[in-house]
Amino acid sequence: MERDIKGLISQMTLEEKASLCSGKDAWNTKPIERLGIPSIRMSDGPHGLRKEEHLFGESKPATCFPTAVTLAASWDRELVERVGKAIGEECQAEGVQILLGPGVNIKRSPLCGRNFEYYSEDPFLASELAKHFIKGVQSEGVGTSLKHYAANNQETRRLTVDAKIDERTLREIYLASFERAVKEAQPWTVMCSYNKVNGTYASENEYLLRKILKEEWGFEGFVVSDWGAVNDRVKGLKAGLDLQMPYDGGLGDKKIIEAVKRGELSEEILDEAVERILRIIFKAIENKKEGASYDKEAHHKLAREVAKECFVLLKNEDHILPLKKEGVIGIIGAFAKKPQIQGGGSAHVNPTKTDDALEEIKKIVGGRGKILYADGYEIDKDEPKEELIEEAKRIAKESDVVIIFAGLPERYESEGFDRPHMKMPESQNELIKEVAKTNKNTVVVLSNGGPIEMPWVEEVKGILETYRGGQGWGGAVADILFGVVSPSGKLPESFPKKLSDNPSYLFFPGERDKVEYREGIFVGYRYYDKKEMEVLFPFGYGLSYTNFEYSELKIEKKKITEEEILKVKVKVKNTGKMKGKEVVQLYVKDIKSEVIRPEKELKGFKKIELEAGEEKEVEFELDKRAFAYYNEEIGEFYVESGEFEIMIGKSSRDIVLKETVYVESTKKIKKRYHINSTIGDIMEDTEAWSKLQKFLADLEKAFGIESYISYTKKPEKYLKNDCLRRILFYYVRQGADMNKMEELMTKFIEDLNS
Ligand code: GLC
Repeated sequence: MERDIKGLISQMTLEEKASLCSGKDAWNTKPIERLGIPSIRMSDGPHGLRKEEHLFGESKPATCFPTAVTLAASWDRELVERVGKAIGEECQAEGVQILLGPGVNIKRSPLCGRNFEYYSEDPFLASELAKHFIKGVQSEGVGTSLKHYAANNQETRRLTVDAKIDERTLREIYLASFERAVKEAQPWTVMCSYNKVNGTYASENEYLLRKILKEEWGFEGFVVSDWGAVNDRVKGLKAGLDLQMPYDGGLGDKKIIEAVKRGELSEEILDEAVERILRIIFKAIENKKEGASYDKEAHHKLAREVAKECFVLLKNEDHILPLKKEGVIGIIGAFAKKPQIQGGGSAHVNPTKTDDALEEIKKIVGGRGKILYADGYEIDKDEPKEELIEEAKRIAKESDVVIIFAGLPERYESEGFDRPHMKMPESQNELIKEVAKTNKNTVVVLSNGGPIEMPWVEEVKGILETYRGGQGWGGAVADILFGVVSPSGKLPESFPKKLSDNPSYLFFPGERDKVEYREGIFVGYRYYDKKEMEVLFPFGYGLSYTNFEYSELKIEKKKITEEEILKVKVKVKNTGKMKGKEVVQLYVKDIKSEVIRPEKELKGFKKIELEAGEEKEVEFELDKRAFAYYNEEIGEFYVESGEFEIMIGKSSRDIVLKETVYVESTKKIKKRYHINSTIGDIMEDTEAWSKLQKFLADLEKAFGIESYISYTKKPEKYLKNDCLRRILFYYVRQGADMNKMEELMTKFIEDLNS
């Protein structure tokens, strides 16, 4: 029902308007009974509902789904949308109108404490998945809050640190993970981050909030602050920050009222914020499903089904996986009994139940095999415990195959602090080495929210990355280990061999309240590929129990303009003996560019399921942004005319098919010439180059002075780096009238720019 929002605003007092721009308490907006304006409730988080009665208290039980990084490893838009929908159902049942997620901050460093809560190092993958998560939640009539806008890529000094990022990097990487999600899914709210961006708090950064988010991207909802992120409430309101959370005791409201009364804040700006907030409040109320409920068991099953699609098989020597049910199976590692399914902080969910891997493995094996178990290490301590390792070695000796459950204890990763290194607990590294020495048929199952170093990677036969698998993790792991389903996850981030290989290493987390993103656009695989560096495991990598062959890559046209859509097709066949899913990845490379560009960039992906022997054709559509870079001179994404390579890959490092396409740019950037323009720049512009040659010929006639170009007798590669100023000096030195020469040069440059 269309409400007369503006009419309602016209009835509101200044005090009432100001009151609407901050929360009533930790989670609710303020009602205005006099005008029939209700309150609505927000709650975390990105992988399950955390509804608590008071800040930092225990939350009500809800389904703990795989966290964002785990969902990202599925590379499955529909799957992520299903999770969003399920969480939306739980929000309706619990009377929550806005879910505070998804988090799309780019994984600049493996150390960020909240990496488990974020999707990827790649903005295309992150934004595509966020878009579908938002669609899923909002399809249930519940809003979302796309966060943390922007450049909240570390927890160290997060409330005060200033992220210094050049415009192109900001646009191509750190804002790009928000952009497509905002434009194509319209989250009801966007949450601004705590930190500063280029000197100004995100909560009062007009360039980010008003110019880009609202005006350029057409964001229709309201901007909510992160909890306690408001620095100056009036500046924030002017910059486009609509709602301050949580309630601050009335300080912000008071400042707004005073600023309007003193004429320092126009009431129109306040009205715009109130209008945005009211639109969402009434949308939420209209979509409220009174008496809603959800099926806990069905959601638990969904959490398990989803987790299975996310796990990444990193190593499978001698096809040690899938396991047989017969024989003696050694299960080692306390994680098998105490799953580490998520990270800490505001995203932490109180699960309705949790599968443990040991019990689920016992169910699958039944009486057909013998299962031995040992803790191997203590979860709450990092130091190795000799007796635990000895016990583990004893059962390893008796076992045909050993599965070690390891990774990072949940206490390692959380909102509020970053990891100091990429290491696992020493107790676990020691255990893995000792067990692998005792029994070569060793498989490691990892639970971790971000990349880790694996000093034992050569000593084990199998590695299954399960990230933070949510409450269905135990059952999902058992299903994968015993081949109920083939693993189909792919890494949504690179695993470097060591931390110092990471491009942010020298500049993370910065120096006190300044962090400079000096690596620029070269984040993750963009860096490792450009530098031709070895990595432990590459972006987009993941094995399967079956095999896939690609063929017949076809691009619809060999030449397009950037305004056209390019259709790309490729065939994929399951040549193995088992049904499986494959993530077909499409990367684009600008073969020759006037700016520095990554070696390749992800611009398409599709996950498909194929029966053994089945073949399907996958289609992609590439728009302008598949080819563009952000051109700071003209302040927009721009495609430079030239050849581009379309690459189809099983991972960023396993490109199986390639094609090239010529893209003709319709956007002519008028070059501006001046006395310091290089001859090389002029040579690139045929018209300008012929004008320069004529100009020098005319000078020879006028002053009888040999042309500068023939005089220097320099090779072209030298001349390219010369400039007009030097030509002017040459003719004056050779005797040409100084004033006349300057006049002629000025006229020549004007003619070039005409
Ligand atoms: C926290 C987090 C944010 C969360 C909010 C409410 O500080 O940064 O992600 O949604 O506050 O808990």
